[in-house]
Amino acid sequence: MSGTILTVAQQKGGAGKTTLVAQLAVALAAQGRRVAAVDIDPQASLGAWSELRDRAAAYTPIRVVKSPGWKLDLTLGELARGCDVVLVDSPPHAETEARVAVRAARFVLVPCQPSLLDVWASRATLELVRRESRAAAILWNRLPPRGHVVDEARAAAAEAGLAGLAEGLGNRSDFARSLHVGAGVVETAPRGAAAREIRALAAALRPRLA
Ligand SMILES: Nc1ncnc2c1ncn2[C@@H]1O[C@H](COP(=O)(O)OP(=O)(O)OP(=O)(O)O)[C@@H](O)[C@H]1O
Ligand SMILES: [Mg+2]
Repeated sequence: MSGTILTVAQQKGGAGKTTLVAQLAVALAAQGRRVAAVDIDPQASLGAWSELRDRAAAYTPIRVVKSPGWKLDLTLGELARGCDVVLVDSPPHAETEARVAVRAARFVLVPCQPSLLDVWASRATLELVRRESRAAAILWNRLPPRGHVVDEARAAAAEAGLAGLAEGLGNRSDFARSLHVGAGVVETAPRGAAAREIRALAAALRPRLA
């Protein structure tokens, strides 16, 4: 049986795509799922994280494969057979690659920071998702503890027809720090707020992974 393909796409740079793929991969693997990830971004940050992880040897192995966008279908065909979930990390500012990654997915997560500028910049990705007739949700990332600006961003996203999935992820240094050692927050700070948020996201995705 083939695994479920989840693509993380957002054509705006620095929204948190790679962070989300790595953190979610670890959280899903910690639940006992067989998880793999594909890095189609030539920046290859996910691949670099994976090399660190393999060297650390203390963590559950997660297979991360680098693949050019044009080869994605072939890569996924080979990978998905032995996995429950395959996460695809896509590059910013690259419509063709984003399109193949969105087309291949059962579900698309669109990380977005809570500001109107970021919601507006997400329109290109949302339009792409719509053209490919895929289901998607926004994943609010780097949420501040409180603020008007968050409510405005949520309202603008709702107007564009998208709701946020789970509670979103706070702006927490644990997310970055764990990646620096090839891990995820559920491994380095399992009782922290960041781990709670990523577990809540994994739980919210459960119906999509059945
Ligand atoms: N929830 C978070 N809390 C704190 N820092 C975060 C969070 N999410 C992402 N970051 C930081 O934001 C920066 C950009 O994140 P990341 O590289 O994951 O984004 P990206 O969308 O993959 O970028 P690109 O478009 O260049 O591929 C990184 O320095 C990362 O550590
Ligand atoms: Mg990235």
